[in-house]
Amino acid sequence: MEPIIDFENIYVSYGQYTALHGINLKIFPGENWVILGANGSGKSTLLKLFSNDLYPNASYTFQKKIFGKERWDIFELKKLLGIVTNDLQNKFEQRSPLATALDVVLSGYHSSLGIFKHHSFSGEEIKAAYQTMEFLNILQIKNKKVCEMSTGQLRRCIAGRSLIHNPHIFVLDEPTSGLDIKARTDFIKTIQKISKTKSIILITHDVSEIIPEISHAALMLNGTIYSSGKIDEVLTSGNLSRVFNANIKISRSDGKYFATCE
Ligand SMILES: Nc1ncnc2c1ncn2[C@@H]1O[C@H](COP(=O)(O)OP(=O)(O)OP(=O)(O)O)[C@@H](O)[C@H]1O
Ligand SMILES: [Mg+2]
Repeated sequence: MEPIIDFENIYVSYGQYTALHGINLKIFPGENWVILGANGSGKSTLLKLFSNDLYPNASYTFQKKIFGKERWDIFELKKLLGIVTNDLQNKFEQRSPLATALDVVLSGYHSSLGIFKHHSFSGEEIKAAYQTMEFLNILQIKNKKVCEMSTGQLRRCIAGRSLIHNPHIFVLDEPTSGLDIKARTDFIKTIQKISKTKSIILITHDVSEIIPEISHAALMLNGTIYSSGKIDEVLTSGNLSRVFNANIKISRSDGKYFATCE
């Protein structure tokens, strides 16, 4: 079986600063991953490699295949990936405050930050948007504007935007930041439902966000992947203590993870 993500020896630099060092990562169909690491360890930079928003440093010999291909039309690639990030949410707040919930979801068809005059949608596309909004429990706010939404409501609209074209992988970068306990619990349940039909890549520094459907983990440390593989083998107290530079104890109960830090 061919991996959907196949990275070997990837370095990524922002100008003179190298943020990722020799990344090796293979993700196969049917796997759900969590990528954990401390602030600044390189998680969001890794995500930008998935979406071709960043490219590997060409000074190093590397391999970078996504769905088996080295070269992608960015628009085609974005159709296969559903990405939810706070960056995207912030961009909508800043640049499209008057877009409605329905506009945000429909904008997924054009990978745009809202709907523009030259955009048109078929009856099928609008029907799919309504279905996605129903699934995410946001149909009742379809006419609400971005500037009038709570963080949790806009997060669901962004999720709708990334699910509308039925992507193969759903990638979430700290999806519950800024959500209250109810919105957080509901959103995690939604991720759980989505994981039944798509591969999930969840980026977080909070082990309590890890749903039982997650099968694999990668721990990042200072721009490297410190440990990766089956979640039970990777998510140990020793490994977490090393990557978070603290005395961490992790336990598992009912499929959920709990961590304490001394
Ligand atoms: N646009 C940029 N220009 C320069 N340096 C950057 C840029 N974006 C990130 N970095 C640096 O790259 C490193 C990795 O950042 P990244 O955002 O990938 O970390 P992260 O693991 O996602 O952190 P967090 O948990 O805080 O979101 C950090 O040292 C950061 O300062
Ligand atoms: Mg980040």
